[in-house]
Amino acid sequence: SAAEKGGWSSFMAKEISEQPEAVANTLRSRITPEGHIDIPELAKVVADTQITRVVFIACGTAAYSAMLGAYAMEKWAHIPASVELSHEFRYRDAVIDAHTLVVSVSQSGETMDTLMAVRHAAEAGATTVSICNTQGATIPRESTATLYTHAGPEVAVASTKAFSAQVVATYLLALAFGEARGALSAAERAELAEALLAAPDQMAEMVQTGERIHELAHWMADTHSVLYLGRHVGYPIALEGALKLKELAYIHAEGFAAGELKHGPIALIEPGQIVFVVVPSPRDPRSLHSKVVSNIQEIRARGARVIALAERGDAAVLPFADEVIALPPAHTFVEPLLAVIPLHLFGMELAMAKGLDVDQPRNLAKSVTVE
Ligand code: G6P
Repeated sequence: SAAEKGGWSSFMAKEISEQPEAVANTLRSRITPEGHIDIPELAKVVADTQITRVVFIACGTAAYSAMLGAYAMEKWAHIPASVELSHEFRYRDAVIDAHTLVVSVSQSGETMDTLMAVRHAAEAGATTVSICNTQGATIPRESTATLYTHAGPEVAVASTKAFSAQVVATYLLALAFGEARGALSAAERAELAEALLAAPDQMAEMVQTGERIHELAHWMADTHSVLYLGRHVGYPIALEGALKLKELAYIHAEGFAAGELKHGPIALIEPGQIVFVVVPSPRDPRSLHSKVVSNIQEIRARGARVIALAERGDAAVLPFADEVIALPPAHTFVEPLLAVIPLHLFGMELAMAKGLDVDQPRNLAKSVTVE
């Protein structure tokens, strides 16, 4: 009903705007300003020195949050980490043993593909952690430990605020291991704590891009294909942006790792092709910024229409982008939480421009309880 939507045009619009809160609530009381992680429910797992690798399993949007979790786990805890789609992991005779931590990420906690993969992992002797948004759901009940996201109930079929909450939950898990294993200095932990605790306010700024995105979406309402490029933490966000456009607006969309462009996807670029590019901060010490700016130049030279999601004040992208959506300067691992919001908004706005039901896209279910 209209009352449940609290004045919003859809649950999707409401839930996108609730992303800062979802993140704040998921972090609350679990991370101190000094960067101590206080999560009693994870204490036993985090203290388990037998664990030598982490495998994240999930489906859909949740799997993209897990990619960020795996990057964080390797960077902050120095534990080898990978991500697999639950249904692939379950049936390919993956090597799993008592040294493996299998972390499932599922908003509903009922996704059958993920549940079957968790059971499979447990039977093989793995420790299992569930990152879940639904208290008492089946997957958390069957897992060794659960880290709940506190996004609040998510009604729209396509996941938005649960995604952001899942991202920070995977970060908390990585930080907890990083602290327990002494992989992070106190200064590094404090820097990360400060960055994460600042994220909700920065995300709230991104929610304000709504009107601009509305205009962009109307300008593009008749488009048939949209590409998304990102690198490192921007890559999962490119995948997420593309998935949302498929799910909500029924438009063909693909996300690519920007470094992969020259290995294939650049052949798709023709005049008028719309490409969203998640641009790393120019402050990035690994020169990924200039590499992605080169990608933008390459596709622009072939006639692409580029919409860059770039740090405010990033002058290098201006000559080559048709549109720039500015992000407040943030820690590298916070950037994806900022960039995803305009992409969620874009999927929603384009669907609305086409007159579609954004809360209940055709053929999809909120929770897929069949394999
Ligand atoms: C369904 C939903 C997606 C969601 C996926 C995983 O396909 O339509 O939005 O990302 O399931 O759901 P889960 O509850 O496991 O996070």
